[in-house]
Formats: sequence, C-alpha cells, structure tokens
Amino acid sequence: MAAVEELEVEVERILPGGMGLAHAGGKTVFVSLAAPGDRVRVRIDRQQGDLLFASIVEILKPSPLRIEPPCPYFGRCGGCDFQQLTYEAQLAAKADIIRDCLHRIARLENVPEILVTPSPRDWRYRMRATWQIDREQRQIGYYERGSRRVCDVADCAVLLPELQETLERVRATEWSMFPPALKHLDVVAGENGVSLSPPFAEFETNELSLTVRGEVYRFNAEAFFQINPSLLGSLIDFAIAGASGETVLDLYCGVGLFTLPLARRFRHVIAVESNSIAVRFARRNLQHAGLSNARVVTATVTDWFRSDSRTHGPVDFILLDPPRAGAESAVIKGILDLHPSQISYVSCDPATLARDLKKLLAGGYIIDAIVAFDLFPQTHHVETVVRLTKT
Ligand SMILES: C[S@@+](CC[C@H](N)C(=O)[O-])C[C@H]1O[C@@H](n2cnc3c(N)ncnc32)[C@H](O)[C@@H]1O
Repeated sequence: MAAVEELEVEVERILPGGMGLAHAGGKTVFVSLAAPGDRVRVRIDRQQGDLLFASIVEILKPSPLRIEPPCPYFGRCGGCDFQQLTYEAQLAAKADIIRDCLHRIARLENVPEILVTPSPRDWRYRMRATWQIDREQRQIGYYERGSRRVCDVADCAVLLPELQETLERVRATEWSMFPPALKHLDVVAGENGVSLSPPFAEFETNELSLTVRGEVYRFNAEAFFQINPSLLGSLIDFAIAGASGETVLDLYCGVGLFTLPLARRFRHVIAVESNSIAVRFARRNLQHAGLSNARVVTATVTDWFRSDSRTHGPVDFILLDPPRAGAESAVIKGILDLHPSQISYVSCDPATLARDLKKLLAGGYIIDAIVAFDLFPQTHHVETVVRLTKT
C-alpha cells in the first residue's frame, strides 16, 4: 500500500470555495476546515497537477482566529465548513473571498473595501434546508463532506428552532411511513408553520407566508425562498436603493422577493422565472398586494431574451439574482443590448459574479457600490450585491 503523504504547512488565507491556502515544496496546498495562521500537519487526500488537496491531521499551533467548532457533526457533515472560525473571522474571510474573485476573475484593479453585513443570528438562522434520507441505513441528515453518504444528524445548530423541531418529528416517524423512493426532503419555515416536499405521513406541503419590509410573501417547499430571513429587509433595501422609473426587469425572480418592492417604484415590471410553482406564487403575491403593474413570465431568462425581450420599450433598471452558476452568456449579452441605466446584480457565488461582472464592465458599466450580506453563517457562502451604472 502506498504511504499516505503528510506535510507541515502554515495556512495563509481562506480561498473562494472555503479552503485554506498553504504552500510546501513548490506546491500549492488546499487545506479544508482551516483557519488563517494555523500551523498544521496535513494529510494529502488527492493531487491535481501541482495542487494538493489536504485535510488536517494535527493542529501544531492554532490560529488566534480558531475556535472549537461547537457542532458534534462538524468535519463529517458536509453542511458547515466555517465553524472553526470566530464569527468575526468568518466575515473577514468572506470579504477576502469576494475581493479575491473581483481582483483575479473580474480583473478589477482597485477593489474597494467590502463590507459584509453580519447576520443578526449566527446560529439557528436557517429557514430552509434539504434533508437527505438513507432508508437502508436508516439515516436522515446531510451528505458527508465530499461524499454521497448520509451523515445522520439529530440536531442541526443552524436550523431555526421550528425546523429543528420538524427534523426531530421526521426522525421520530416510523420508517414504514417513508415512501420507498424518498431520497430527500425539502423543508421551509414561515411565520405560520413549516412546509415539506414531498408530503408524507403527517407532513404537508403547506402554503406559508413571511412579511419583509411590509410585503407579504407566500411560498412553499417546492419553490425557492431565501435561507436567512433576518437579513432580507437590508438585502432588498440595498439592492433597489435609489431605483425608480418607467420599466424594470427582475430576472430570476423566484416568488417575487424583489418584484413587489420594485412594482411600487416603477410603472412597469417584467419578472422572469423558470419554476412554474414560484411563478404562481409571485403572481399571487403581487395580486394580494394590489399590484397590477407587474407581468411574471414563466421562462428561462435565456429563452425570454431570445423570444420576448423586444416586446417592451426602454428598460431603466435590471435586477438579476441568478442561481450559483451565475447568468448565462446570452443573458449578459441580452442585458447589455437593452442599455439599462442601472443594474443590480444579487449573487450567491462570488466567482460567477466576478465572471459576469467582467463582461458588464467591458460593456460600459461602472461599479457604484458593493455590499455583502452574511446570509449563510458557519459556511463559506456569502451573498453579494453589486450596483452598476452605465457610463
Ligand atoms: C437565487 S434564486 C433568487 C430568487 C428570488 N430573486 C429571491 O430572492 O427569492 C434564483 C431563482 O432563479 C430560478 N432559476 C434558475 N435558473 C433559471 C433560469 N435559467 N431562468 C429563470 N429562472 C431560473 C430559480 O428557480 C430561483 O427561483
């Protein structure tokens, strides 16, 4: 059997993707679950060219930013990868990650200081989750790190209390009640209960609601809703600050988180979303709010640009909030072709954000302001909003 290679390294900083960066013998080492300043002995798990992927075997000298991860599943569960950092260090690492992407991928020369707005709750904040089910092993939880094995989780410390209580009820359900083909459960909490998809046993795909900045949003576990309710008001305020005019596009609109407040500021709103369940909720949310100046289209944004985007007049403002993969090239081209005077890009992945920003900057836009929001404490994920103006 080949000897397992071990190295001693010093972790320099946290990289996009959440791993620690170190160097040894001319090679770059990516260390998982590290803290900047850690001196550690690592085991090389795999090699990709000159890149070594490693995990910590022993902490020789802990970083001053390191704390004891409070969750008993940390390290095995694939859910959280920042519990080893103080909360302040998590925020600083996220600011570095965004700066790194803007500098390296978007090729921004003078990257501004990035403010990462802290989450009012850094534990028990998540209102949405996906629980993996392994019937054979009788396990319910999250995938283990880097694997498709289910880590059996009885208490998840980032879930809102009502979701934790639901997890306990799901776990207490007789296995005979679980549908044989059930592989995972989507679950979301609102002000009036919890919704599960697919429904089974006593659990239903209830319609829920949540009020943010006076707007009431209805949704269920089958449509996207943001994870951290405690920052949504600030996220909306910053993303649409100062925006008003004739026509606005809300691309990747979900159940209408931005569509409703935009409909109060613009004469016409066109919102585009591919999930038909989310579209149905977005339309109902607008209707209940008495807003009849918004049209919600069921389409991928690429298809919409291909077919419909010429059926309206000039567009003043475009808000886009794509999934992690970012906006497709055709979408960025479609946005540039419409020449909006302002763009607000809401992103949950700094790398794809930076890739798309590079094209928007080359297309004649400048960055007005960037603010990040820590919607995902205890993980390396971060939400970033960039506001751009046409030069
Ligand atoms: C990050 S969520 C944002 C949703 C909404 N803006 C919000 O804040 O609640 C991205 C949304 O894009 C939708 N989506 C994913 N790919 C899409 C595509 N190619 N075209 C249109 N919508 C898409 C998803 O269903 C999801 O609702």
